[in-house]
Amino acid sequence: MTNPDVTRCPHEVLLAATEQFPTPFFLYEEDQIRDHCQQIQALFKPLFPGFSPLFAMKATPNTHILKIIQEEGFGFDCSSQSEAWMTEQLDNWGMHTSNYTTDEELKVVLENDKVLLNLDDISLLDRLEDLGVPDFLSFRINPGITKGGMKSLLFGGDDAKYGVPHEQAVEAYRKAQALGVKRFGIHTMTGSNVLDENYFSEVATRLWEIYAILQKELGIELEYMNIGGGFGVAYKPEEPSLDLTKVAQAIRKTFDEQSAKTGLAEPKLMIEPGRWVTCDSGFLVGRVNVIKDGYKKFIGLDANCNHMPRPSIYGAYHHASVLGKDAEDSSLEKVNLVGRICENNDQFAHDRELPLIEVGDFVAIHNCGAHAFSMGHNYNGQPRSAEYLQTSSGDIQKIRHAETIEDMFRTVA
Ligand SMILES: Cc1ncc(COP(=O)(O)O)c(C=O)c1O
Repeated sequence: MTNPDVTRCPHEVLLAATEQFPTPFFLYEEDQIRDHCQQIQALFKPLFPGFSPLFAMKATPNTHILKIIQEEGFGFDCSSQSEAWMTEQLDNWGMHTSNYTTDEELKVVLENDKVLLNLDDISLLDRLEDLGVPDFLSFRINPGITKGGMKSLLFGGDDAKYGVPHEQAVEAYRKAQALGVKRFGIHTMTGSNVLDENYFSEVATRLWEIYAILQKELGIELEYMNIGGGFGVAYKPEEPSLDLTKVAQAIRKTFDEQSAKTGLAEPKLMIEPGRWVTCDSGFLVGRVNVIKDGYKKFIGLDANCNHMPRPSIYGAYHHASVLGKDAEDSSLEKVNLVGRICENNDQFAHDRELPLIEVGDFVAIHNCGAHAFSMGHNYNGQPRSAEYLQTSSGDIQKIRHAETIEDMFRTVA
């Protein structure tokens, strides 16, 4: 079975964009982003009083896109000082979750009254004595379980650098209480791109178990329970999409069971997805530049792994379409889709069956709306590309200029 969420490609819109703008570029669809935000709100809000969705802005940190998501009622999950700053600039609110944090960053977040602080390690509490004690504090707990789309997306368990081990939770909250913290939350993020509908309720159960211990030992009542992001999307045509209705219902069941079992007041559910909100709204479009008939057929694009590094870093699969050529109507050939960077992992696809390609064709790489542009870099002196948005009115709006060579050298002292 072919998953239409993966194979969907707005050929006409992308081709029209290639007539107006130089490649490579990213194009995002506003309607798709709004639809995903609205689906989350519609599924969770009626089930969880005080439901507090955040968007993990590291996925797509473009202010035009962030504003759309903010309009849909999302706060922001910030992973750095600059993301906390961006949240303040946009007059939004959120939670800051960093790791191995510097004093400078802690100080900036403590001074930012829009952003709640979520600490990743107990040792950082000593720093708060000097830097300032917030009224509210949360801890990122590593509950010892993990699941993710691939090994590098596993964020929990004993080999993960993240979070307070669950055995240290009581000590962490006790110390925070002693420092004078008054209001508390609890957070976890154990993996990304999880397609198992039951996993998120398992994570919530672990947090409730810790909550019960915190209440018994320290009398703590939690204001927020943040179960993180990690809601998976299908990247491969044969993968099923995550059924978010089932996810929401399973978490509700856990909340009901745990509040009945422990007698504790229910904290507000917070989630912080990135990928699920924006991933399938974004396409990276490149032009076919050179076709090499070597040991294999290599299709050389003007888009590289510096624009969208996921395949080069993780070996991640991304579906691809040749614009204007439908795979179903055309004879296919097996090709490798490659960029121009001097790294052999600069390949978007290996042995992929695609319609016959000619120089000058345009190729769209799917699922490039999250953790894609934002992971880009300048290796080989390659500037990052422009970003465009197809707005709900159908216009295509530039939302980021392409980097120039001068931009790249601007910081050289
Ligand atoms: C702390 C934290 N929250 C949320 C996210 C978003 O994850 P996803 O895009 O899989 O939803 C990440 C991703 O790395 C993360 O590290």
